[in-house]
Amino acid sequence: MTATKRAFVMGHPIAHSRSPMLHGHWLKAHGIDGAYEKLDVAPADLAAFFAGFDAAGWVGGNVTVPHKSTVIPFLGRLDEAAKAMGAVNTLWWDGRTLVGGNTDAIGFIGNLDDRAPGWDGGAKRATILGAGGAARAAIYGLRARGLDVAIVNRTAGNAQELVDFFGAGVTAHGFDALPDLLSRSGLLVNATSLGMQGKPPLAVDLGALPAAATVCDIVYVPLETELLRAAKSRGNRAVDGLGMLLHQAVEGFRHWFGATPKVTEALRAELEADIRAKSPGA
Ligand code: ATR
Repeated sequence: MTATKRAFVMGHPIAHSRSPMLHGHWLKAHGIDGAYEKLDVAPADLAAFFAGFDAAGWVGGNVTVPHKSTVIPFLGRLDEAAKAMGAVNTLWWDGRTLVGGNTDAIGFIGNLDDRAPGWDGGAKRATILGAGGAARAAIYGLRARGLDVAIVNRTAGNAQELVDFFGAGVTAHGFDALPDLLSRSGLLVNATSLGMQGKPPLAVDLGALPAAATVCDIVYVPLETELLRAAKSRGNRAVDGLGMLLHQAVEGFRHWFGATPKVTEALRAELEADIRAKSPGA
């Protein structure tokens, strides 16, 4: 008899995480003897967590706020994306080496490919609102697909940091530049927390955006943000943020449990129902 394979998501706080629902769905669909557990690990307990990692027998797991960067010293190796982003969201074993990877960019691009096939057909340039961790992942993915990226952010220094990091093909702007940038963009991404339930609204005039452009929001509570509603009402394709969560999870599951899971409508529906149940009005 083989032991149950156990993976985790660790963060602080962690109660809100939807990853157990997501991986639980796939474990059932594949009939795998596995488990996926939520672990609340306070920053002060991080070293003890890794000291006990081997003995606990984990096959790997997900890492979320506030540990995405602080776990790095405890790992044997980082993949290219994690190195580039300075942040880790997935851990797995490569033989005896504990690897830290970052699948957020794969998740971001996978979501666009899934929900708006051909989105980059005519798109040479993307405009991204925001300059935090989510923006960094989106830029990494978009540069890999060959798009130029214009970052629009409230704090110029934060956008400039990303320009310095990514180099050619990435530029920084204030919100005043938005109409001009939109008129030349095939993709608009909201990577700020604006528009999320409980946060201030995101007020963007889409008037200059070409009709063929796609609009993507990283926010998924609510599922349909004001930005996506406005995009749809003028005929633009609109992609919500839930798919990024679903697609970023595929690689981890594959490493831990040895099967490549699918992002299906049934899985989406299960998570959508949970979001609506826990956030009425979303
Ligand atoms: P994450 O890592 O999840 O992307 P973050 O690092 O907190 O989150 O980034 C949040 C982004 O939302 C930032 O780009 C932030 O802009 P600043 O760099 O100017 O802080 C943006 N943001 C948050 N609240 C905002 C607001 N009220 N107006 C404009 N931008 C805001």
